Amino acid sequence: MPKMIFVSADGSTRKEVTARSGQSVLEIAHDNDVDIEGVCEGSMACSTCHVIVDKAFYARLPRPSEDEADMLDLAFGLRPTSRLGCQILLTDAVDGLVVQLPGRTVNMMDV
Ligand code: FES
Repeated sequence: MPKMIFVSADGSTRKEVTARSGQSVLEIAHDNDVDIEGVCEGSMACSTCHVIVDKAFYARLPRPSEDEADMLDLAFGLRPTSRLGCQILLTDAVDGLVVQLPGRTVNMMDV
């Protein structure tokens, strides 16, 4: 089973978890009590699942879709390696994936 690591927004804590291959980062966060909201449950309508992917892994992930990129443009604290957690699937190809939580998120469904 692949592993991944969640890093807190301030970088002070890291949580390593294992998951089934093919699970989304959002699902894995919810299974392991990691505080990623995911209000729209993966329908790319909220951006509350925003995470910042470690540079070493960013290029190994499939590129974001146009819809994901559009939603990311509205996320708070956007970084060059930002992605929507609901759109990243953990597979053996990115075993050890590291993502950091942003300082805060914006729910575009409330705006
Ligand atoms: Fe809403 Fe990912 S859960 S965009």
